[in-house]
Amino acid sequence: MREYYPLLLGGGIIGLISIVLILAYAFMKDKKQAIGFDRHMKDGEIIRRLLRYAKPYTGWFVLVGFIVIVGIAYDIISPYIVGRVTAMLDKDFPLSRLFTLVAAYAGILVVSMVCTYAQAIILQRIGQKIISNMRLDLFTHIESLSHEQMNTIPVGKLVTRVTNDTNAISLMFTSLLVNLVKNIFIIVGVLCAMLALNIELTLMVLCFVPFIVLFTVIFRKFVRRAFRRVKDRTTDINTYLSENLSGIKITQIFNREAAKQRDFAEKSRGLGKAKREQILVFGIFRPLVYMLYISTVLALFYVGGKGYLDGTVFLGQMIDAATVVSFYMYINKFFNPIQNLAEQFNWLQSAFASAEKVFSIMDIEPALCDAEDAIELENVRGEIEFRDVWFSYIPDEWVLKGVSFHVKPGDTVAFVGATGSGKTTILSLICRNYEFQKGEILIDGIDIRRIKIASLRKHFGQMLQDVFLFSGTIRSNILLDLEGVSDDEVMEACRYVNADHFINRLEDGLDEVVRERGNNFSAGQRQLLSFARTIIHKPEVMILDEATANIDTETEVLIQDSLERMMNIGTMLIVAHRLSTIQHADNIIVLSKGEIVEQGTHQELLKNPEGKYHALYMLQFEKERQLKG
Ligand SMILES: Nc1ncnc2c1ncn2[C@@H]1O[C@H](COP(=O)(O)OP(=O)(O)OP(=O)(O)O)[C@@H](O)[C@H]1O
Ligand SMILES: [Mg+2]
Repeated sequence: MREYYPLLLGGGIIGLISIVLILAYAFMKDKKQAIGFDRHMKDGEIIRRLLRYAKPYTGWFVLVGFIVIVGIAYDIISPYIVGRVTAMLDKDFPLSRLFTLVAAYAGILVVSMVCTYAQAIILQRIGQKIISNMRLDLFTHIESLSHEQMNTIPVGKLVTRVTNDTNAISLMFTSLLVNLVKNIFIIVGVLCAMLALNIELTLMVLCFVPFIVLFTVIFRKFVRRAFRRVKDRTTDINTYLSENLSGIKITQIFNREAAKQRDFAEKSRGLGKAKREQILVFGIFRPLVYMLYISTVLALFYVGGKGYLDGTVFLGQMIDAATVVSFYMYINKFFNPIQNLAEQFNWLQSAFASAEKVFSIMDIEPALCDAEDAIELENVRGEIEFRDVWFSYIPDEWVLKGVSFHVKPGDTVAFVGATGSGKTTILSLICRNYEFQKGEILIDGIDIRRIKIASLRKHFGQMLQDVFLFSGTIRSNILLDLEGVSDDEVMEACRYVNADHFINRLEDGLDEVVRERGNNFSAGQRQLLSFARTIIHKPEVMILDEATANIDTETEVLIQDSLERMMNIGTMLIVAHRLSTIQHADNIIVLSKGEIVEQGTHQELLKNPEGKYHALYMLQFEKERQLKG
């Protein structure tokens, strides 16, 4: 009986640890529904959609599969050879046979190394290709979302989807899948080799397997939570960063750096903590599996050594020194892939969770789609009509309440009204930046919902309230990838809108670098550039939402002048904050709280001393007089 004490002691320790782990498992609270890992898509569907991306590379994957199988020969054959070599060493061994064995060992080692290398290279290449296709698809899809939809998703979240999440998926294609297959092959291969060598010792090794399974199951739960936290915190920090970096100037102006630092530090700590937890979980799991491995090896030495000394025969198999050495190595080869499988399975889960997030963005149906019978708009005369249009950004909070007006081709119509009265909203409905709920909007007598969106926007030049410039050059910002336009034509457009004055003063002219958001240009200059950008695209209808930002008088005169010129190009709808801009408009529409309260020419409207326009005009007139006085 005594001879079993060491085994019982080992078993007792392992049993004790198992109980502790089971208790920890039972008491851990895990929010299954939290954002990081909650899964609505079935694994099958995710796999099917991922495979669609992998399909063009099927041939390569088959090749890799073949390489993997050749590569694992090393894992299965090498312990056997080492065992044989050790068995020889204690006798008068023939040197030539030793050479053969060593050569064979070196041979399979080289083959295995070449295989590992080839496998890594091929997988990295196709993995990166698959992921860049996926990233492109995702980006293209995001581009197709409407303004309304974009308003609802934080930019930082989208950035995380396109970068972090696709990275997690790329890991799956470059290593996880192949390693999973490889490890399963190795486990089966090693098991067969062990069985062929000695059944008794194999059974002994298998006694430890239930514990590995138990540890793995427990580990999975902890690691899932850790992964989820890391993901949530990463999205959190990205969302915070993208918003706050855009608004960093406001932070500085209002001396809010310290407060923002505190917020950021908290988020950063959160991510750090989540990462630490992740590392801790792995840090516990790995030593535990190692402990099992060591216990198995000790048990092998004990049982194997005893069997060798006693000359035990089990099912006709004897234990010799070579068997023990081979088993020693096989146990290592057996435990490694099991531990890897457990870990990789978690990474795989994490990749699936990322894939689901990516796909769920791809599944957002673009809110604005062309109707099935949508038509191409060839030429536009520029007649615009609103018929009792109702619109709300938020259900039932009407921003436009039954707006009707008519614009004749070539006319200039101005919208005035208090801030928040719905001027910008009216303009954004015409180009279908948002979808209105009731009424009709007609262009040349055609309902805009029956026109292809791209075709509609082609005929409209929209100059938005806040001008956005991309990083690049002045030229790239004016052309926005429009092809076949010469520099002369670009300069001509700039001259037309008076942007040439300041461009000519720049050292590099059209090649002058524009930094992110155009922050190296003044508000007035940005506005002039946006005019040039619109003119060059030769729209039939121009829509201008004048910026409220104050600009210097010199630029204001330039803008005023270029506006008057642009009014001659075609139909023009304009929101102006300076009433002087619109004195010559053919019609002025006065809005209040989403309704039209007055309309007419400047002169007509001024005739009504009770009217809103009259009041507005007097207010501005008075202000200007004061400024001059
Ligand atoms: N994306 C949005 N989501 C929800 N509500 C919005 C959105 N954009 C505007 N609104 C609301 O719609 C109303 C009209 O806004 P709009 O931008 O059309 O005003 P505006 O007349 O252009 O004002 P301003 O002169 O200040 O530019 C406002 O009350 C605003 O709060
Ligand atoms: Mg506005």
